[in-house]
Amino acid sequence: MRMLTAAMQTLIERIGKTKELDPAAEKVSGWVDTATRSASVKNALSGSWLGHQAHPVLTDLPIGAWGAATVLDLAGEERAARRMVGLGILASVPTALSGASDWSSMHGPDKRVGLVHGLANATASVLQMTSWLVRRRGHHGAGAALSLLGLGCTLGSAYLGGHLSFVRGIGVSRTAFQDEVDDWTDVAADADIAEGALTRVTAGDVPVLLVRQRGDLHAISAVCTHAGGPLDEGELDTDGCVTCPWHGSRLRIEDGSVQRGPASVAEPCWQTKVQDGRILLRSA
Ligand code: FES
Repeated sequence: MRMLTAAMQTLIERIGKTKELDPAAEKVSGWVDTATRSASVKNALSGSWLGHQAHPVLTDLPIGAWGAATVLDLAGEERAARRMVGLGILASVPTALSGASDWSSMHGPDKRVGLVHGLANATASVLQMTSWLVRRRGHHGAGAALSLLGLGCTLGSAYLGGHLSFVRGIGVSRTAFQDEVDDWTDVAADADIAEGALTRVTAGDVPVLLVRQRGDLHAISAVCTHAGGPLDEGELDTDGCVTCPWHGSRLRIEDGSVQRGPASVAEPCWQTKVQDGRILLRSA
């Protein structure tokens, strides 16, 4: 097992260094960006409605269905196995779309590994579709073999996905490990915070975005939950949202909620008060 793990890690390292993948990655990424320009499409695929990314949840469906198909093949349940293959194919569509949406905002080695992850999944889907068609024509043995091959591709690809999530932290909220600050903490002079300006302050060790809009003070984490973009370098809209400068997520300054993905996790909010001309913050 250790040899297999070492081989996979060497493979991932090689993929990450293969810059020849970049032109294809940029081309496909451009298509994905165009297709997900609408806020409702981006939100649906990112999981902004779910509170975390949708892709990891969706992957359970095709992997589960195709795994079940192989078990049913072994049990001689031909009809049920074909249905599971079909179910997995249907579930792979939203799974692939959500994954492509997440992948389009990656960079460098992660983007290359993500591209190969997507290609392996596409290969698995083609094998499963072929299996379904072959089974339908009555060739159950060939169909079962194709499904098994497809499942192997899916599991290899899942290893790459696991690397991106758990080794590289793709999809993990960039505020997940920030400390909570329970005591009121002095961060700025009230007179220094101009209406409409995006100001980065620090409470304890935590960077916070301080905004005054229509006279009210608001404070959310200054680090975008999506990939760590500096929200104080973004743009404030008149409707009370700040747009992240890196990938365009829109976050409401009043409560940190995500109005547009790719962010899917809300920004942590801070309580504010003004005392003796100083602005004090603590975690909400
Ligand atoms: S870092 Fe990606 S949208 Fe903010």
